[in-house]
Amino acid sequence: MDNLKKIFVKTWNFPFNLDKPLSDLLIILGFQAIQVNDDNIVGKLYLRVEPSNKAFSICHADVIDLTGNKFSAECRVIAKADRGEWARCAKIAMLSVLKQAFGILEPSWGVLTGVRPGKLANKILFAGENPEKVLVENYLLVGSNAKLISDIVKKQNAILSRNVRDIAVYIGVPYCPSRCLYCSFPTGIMPPEDEFQQNFCDSVEEDIRAVVQLISMYGLRIKSLYIGGGTPTSLNDVFFQKLMNVISNNFSVGLIDEFTVEAGRPDCINAEKIRAMEEAGVNRISINPQTMHDRTLVAIGRRHTVKQVYDAFATIRKSNISIVNMDLIVGLPQEGMRDMEYSLDKMLDFYPENLTVHSLALKKSSPLFQICKDYEFVSAEEASLVFDHASLVAEKLGMSPYYLYRQHYMLGNLANIGYAKPGTECIYNMQMMEEQDTVIGIGPSSATKVPALDGHHLYKFHMPKNFYDYKTNAKQLFTKRAETIALRYEQEE
Ligand SMILES: C[S@@+](CC[C@H](N)C(=O)[O-])C[C@H]1O[C@@H](n2cnc3c(N)ncnc32)[C@H](O)[C@@H]1O
Ligand code: SF4
Repeated sequence: MDNLKKIFVKTWNFPFNLDKPLSDLLIILGFQAIQVNDDNIVGKLYLRVEPSNKAFSICHADVIDLTGNKFSAECRVIAKADRGEWARCAKIAMLSVLKQAFGILEPSWGVLTGVRPGKLANKILFAGENPEKVLVENYLLVGSNAKLISDIVKKQNAILSRNVRDIAVYIGVPYCPSRCLYCSFPTGIMPPEDEFQQNFCDSVEEDIRAVVQLISMYGLRIKSLYIGGGTPTSLNDVFFQKLMNVISNNFSVGLIDEFTVEAGRPDCINAEKIRAMEEAGVNRISINPQTMHDRTLVAIGRRHTVKQVYDAFATIRKSNISIVNMDLIVGLPQEGMRDMEYSLDKMLDFYPENLTVHSLALKKSSPLFQICKDYEFVSAEEASLVFDHASLVAEKLGMSPYYLYRQHYMLGNLANIGYAKPGTECIYNMQMMEEQDTVIGIGPSSATKVPALDGHHLYKFHMPKNFYDYKTNAKQLFTKRAETIALRYEQEE
């Protein structure tokens, strides 16, 4: 936020409140929107709508800079436009006027600001149009990103079955062995006491039973089961085994296509936990180096070594868990381009089935945000070149991109890209990102998302982040989740 240029923004006559999409694009372009006049602003941005005729209106954008120069741009909006279309037109006019006034570069994702560009690409595809063409012409994406996201949604559509009864189940264990400096996930340190871990497993078991009832009541089928967090493997051996038993005793794991455990931190994987996963039917696991440099691992507080990544990987390769994913982050503090390319090249030592390359997101709630001034980071241009290198490495590994999402405050306005060898694409990641399949969340901090039958709306329910709030209010929370799920499945009856 500190390096953003302040700009005074005022809007008139829009039929919808567009503050959020407009300020999101401004952040990507390097500006912070403020609504009060301030000595430190770089200029004033005025956005207004004027009706032109019955068929359309004109969205005008004007900038007055500090020397009094005025710049103008406009974009036509059809009369019956929905909120998304209004936002697109307002952003196009705004981007155009800011380019004239401040000479900013064309953003590679054009006027798209959301986390899930694939949802828009899919909507365009289902409307019978060519997403690559529409994304370039109407949303101003650079051609390579428009092609990337179009290819990804086509691949996802070919893999996902689209049966309304097929769902995903997510079980959240929001605890980790230590807190990583860059992380903004709502996780805590795993309490080591047996009493806590016992309580946690008991509560999750109760939660699982409530979900099993719903699944059988509505005749749903779990296509993918994902145990995430946090770091579920931060439970000790006894309670991790217990959690696996609870899952295999309650769900028909044999009928589930994909069962993933996020075992991200190699410092809490061992042969016992891998055996417990094998016995429970896990067939996909994540081991996440994030970087292949020990000095960075120390700097980011991950408390594991590069050697532990090799050891954990070797142990998993001896098991029958067939799909291994590895996560890397581009843009970690103190790392230059060569360091990141080295980490990517090291993936050729493993030949994992999946590789997910993230671009550092610097969020306010991460410890790194508070101290980021003390560190050096690669530039946006360098990060983008590292992503080009990532795609070459993925190709050498026999993988291609199958899922993509963006985050706010992301280095270089890039994207997180998941690569997979053919036939090993993570079903859960695709279901969760597309928001077309129901995802039922179990455990503290989990989210339940149920797409409405109209194909547009999403019913959502979030469990509290705090374990004691979750445990104390379990019955009411299970009822509210059941009500959310009923909004779709009761209607179908
Ligand atoms: C849900 S997190 C948890 C994974 C697991 N606990 C671990 O740390 O290995 C999934 C992935 O998101 C990525 N991630 C987390 N925080 C990030 C950030 N601030 N910027 C970019 N990527 C991030 C990391 O690559 C991480 O492996
Ligand atoms: S990155 Fe993973 S291990 Fe680190 S704090 Fe976040 S969730 Fe926990």
